[in-house]
Amino acid sequence: MIILSIETSCDETALSILDARGTLLRPRFTLLGNALYSQAKLHAEYGGVFPTLAKREHIRNLPILLDKVLAETNLSPAKIDAIAVTYGPGLEPALWTGITFAERLGKEWNVPVVPVNHMEGHVVSPLLNKTKNLSFHYPILALLISGGHTELVVSKKPLSYSVIGKTRDDALGECYDKAARMMGLPYPGGPEIYKLAQKARDRGYHGVQWKLPRPMIYTKDFDFSFSGLKTAVLYAIRDHGTLTAQDKENLAKEFEDAVTDVIVAKTRKAIMQYKPRTLVVGGGVIANTFIRTAFANLSKEFTDLAFSIPERELATDNAVMIAMAGYLNILKKPSILKSKKKIKASGNISL
Ligand code: KG4
Ligand code: ZN
Repeated sequence: MIILSIETSCDETALSILDARGTLLRPRFTLLGNALYSQAKLHAEYGGVFPTLAKREHIRNLPILLDKVLAETNLSPAKIDAIAVTYGPGLEPALWTGITFAERLGKEWNVPVVPVNHMEGHVVSPLLNKTKNLSFHYPILALLISGGHTELVVSKKPLSYSVIGKTRDDALGECYDKAARMMGLPYPGGPEIYKLAQKARDRGYHGVQWKLPRPMIYTKDFDFSFSGLKTAVLYAIRDHGTLTAQDKENLAKEFEDAVTDVIVAKTRKAIMQYKPRTLVVGGGVIANTFIRTAFANLSKEFTDLAFSIPERELATDNAVMIAMAGYLNILKKPSILKSKKKIKASGNISL
């Protein structure tokens, strides 16, 4: 199948065209075209995503990116077999822009439109790799770490999930963004904190200046909590007074160590309990090199545990993962291609 996909759940407007073949257990994807416009710079001024601005920018950019992706692939709309569109979770005004655009195209081209859960997109995001296609060995354990979500999920077969733990307050990416803001760094904060932390690591700093908590690291469940860590950063800065460049680097490193310790410890405990064959980590925060390495090392502690993370460009929001999830949903339930139901944005759906 040739699938056109549309993603507008947050501040990335993205479209892709994917050639999708194979089965639920061994899908084969070839990326034909990819167009993405990040609004991050526009939102930076507000210190986070501003929904009305996101909506306006999606509406403005969707037709431009559609022309771009069609031109890139040299495909006529007649070649498209299905349109996959994110319907949630995310910002509802932003989600509606993608859904309305997808349904209008579907009608015009007489092509079915398939709704996709954004988090399912993050789960399947490692399946397409520039050099080779991957497949998951089930059961999988997936840790999802994005700007809106932090959860541990067990999946015994494709597209079936049980959430075993999640954050009780802030998501990990959100915590990165808020800590960055307190340190005077621009939005999105994740990459900025990483850059500073890396400088401290390159200097050989070993973390004596600051000590941040590792919230819920020893609790018996698989839940997380990051709002206390955010407050600890606030107090540390307040008690210290003006931060020098080196203070910020050291604080960034301690912050990154603290969050990595927690997510690695919880994931290790979940691997021991659920014994998955594959560990998947998805969501924007897994673009982080330090965290990628930490999980690669964790997976090596277990024999016969495959490790699967998306390429960096497919870690943060994109439309390629939406096309992959759309295709898998079609394989699982081909009747969705015949559905006449109007798609509705659902800001809070879970897996
Ligand atoms: O998955 P994503 O693109 O959007 C959501 O679905 O939320 O995740 C965005 C989040 C932001 O909070 C951003 O700061 C974080 O991912 N992020 C990072 C890095 N790149 C993006 N966090 C840590 N290190 C990074 N390199
Ligand atoms: Zn996302």
